[in-house]
Amino acid sequence: MPATVITGIGELTTNEPEIGKLEDAALVLEDERITWAGPTSRAPAADVRVDVEGRAVLPGWVDSHTHLLFAGDRTTEFAARMAGEPYRAGGIAVTVEATRRAGDEELARNLRRHLDEAAAQGTTCVETKTGYGLTVEDEVRAAEIANGLADEVTFLGAHLVPPGERAEDYLDLVCGEMLDAVATHVRWCDVFCEKGAFDADQSRRVLAAAARRGLGLRVHGNQLEPGPGVAMAVEVGAASVDHCTHLTDADVGALAESDTVATLLPACDLSTRQPLPDARALLDAGATVALASNCNPGSSYTSSMAFCVATAVLQMRMSVDEAVRAATWGGARALRRESGADAVGVLRPGARADVQVLDAPSATWLAYRPGVPLTHAVWRKGDRVR
Ligand code: NIG
Repeated sequence: MPATVITGIGELTTNEPEIGKLEDAALVLEDERITWAGPTSRAPAADVRVDVEGRAVLPGWVDSHTHLLFAGDRTTEFAARMAGEPYRAGGIAVTVEATRRAGDEELARNLRRHLDEAAAQGTTCVETKTGYGLTVEDEVRAAEIANGLADEVTFLGAHLVPPGERAEDYLDLVCGEMLDAVATHVRWCDVFCEKGAFDADQSRRVLAAAARRGLGLRVHGNQLEPGPGVAMAVEVGAASVDHCTHLTDADVGALAESDTVATLLPACDLSTRQPLPDARALLDAGATVALASNCNPGSSYTSSMAFCVATAVLQMRMSVDEAVRAATWGGARALRRESGADAVGVLRPGARADVQVLDAPSATWLAYRPGVPLTHAVWRKGDRVR
């Protein structure tokens, strides 16, 4: 792969404390990695030179929470919600039915389409989940399809008790045969800990069974009302607890004292007419915050991380720097990928060459010009994808 030097960067956000934010900067990409970052005047030569003429450059978005293995859509449910119906976890069953009916090729095509859509908007690392299969066969199939296409794959057999099944019987299946069959295809296990899905004890049981098989842990918690999800996620040492829409002071304190990332999903809260999470309380207490799209056909059908960042700044009292960091480094931390050989969400020598260029002089424009497509160019693993 030819080495590329990106020059004329008006504002370079690196998320690397030793480099910081630079003006009139350059970046070198070689063999899937960043190899150099510094002032344009000192930029080394490379095979390809791209002058971005004063535009802002930042790490590609790290979308650490999506549900992209699905078929069908839920337009009718969305329209009913906008007319005043509440969001109900039970809507998941509609997508389960459509997903079970779809062929492998259709599911893979849908996943690819959504990943391409995200990449065109600057997203270069995506986590996605199973959870619309809910049989051993359908969950394994989803995990296998996702494995070749997404960066990170999470098993979410404990998304909902399939209609007509007894919760304890279904949990026996999830904690036994299903996890056995799926564990080699995924890195993470997640559970939807919420009224209408799984309670704290049931969730603990799933996560303990996953940990015994060597999987990392994630939790959907406190989405629709205050509940035990956040405390339970911290207690079991989950890498992240996602949603965090309804938090008590004790939840905020527990997150601040833990290594568990609070992953906020503002597009979901808007689409389900929930309040937006108290990002300020989390940040001020010292918790690590990530922003993710939660792209799925039910509660949040957007792949736009820029929309999440704009919402976080305009309505959640996050600064632009905090929101951009949460959507890049924060997502990487939630996936435990912020350091090491394949680090994402950071632009430092050795990190993965995942870079986005905005058609804007600074990242502030993400909030200043909300809804305007600002993606100018994107490199993923050193390859120009836009
Ligand atoms: O994160 N909360 C649970 N799961 C998804 C919703 C999935 C759906 O409604 O289809 C979420 O919002």
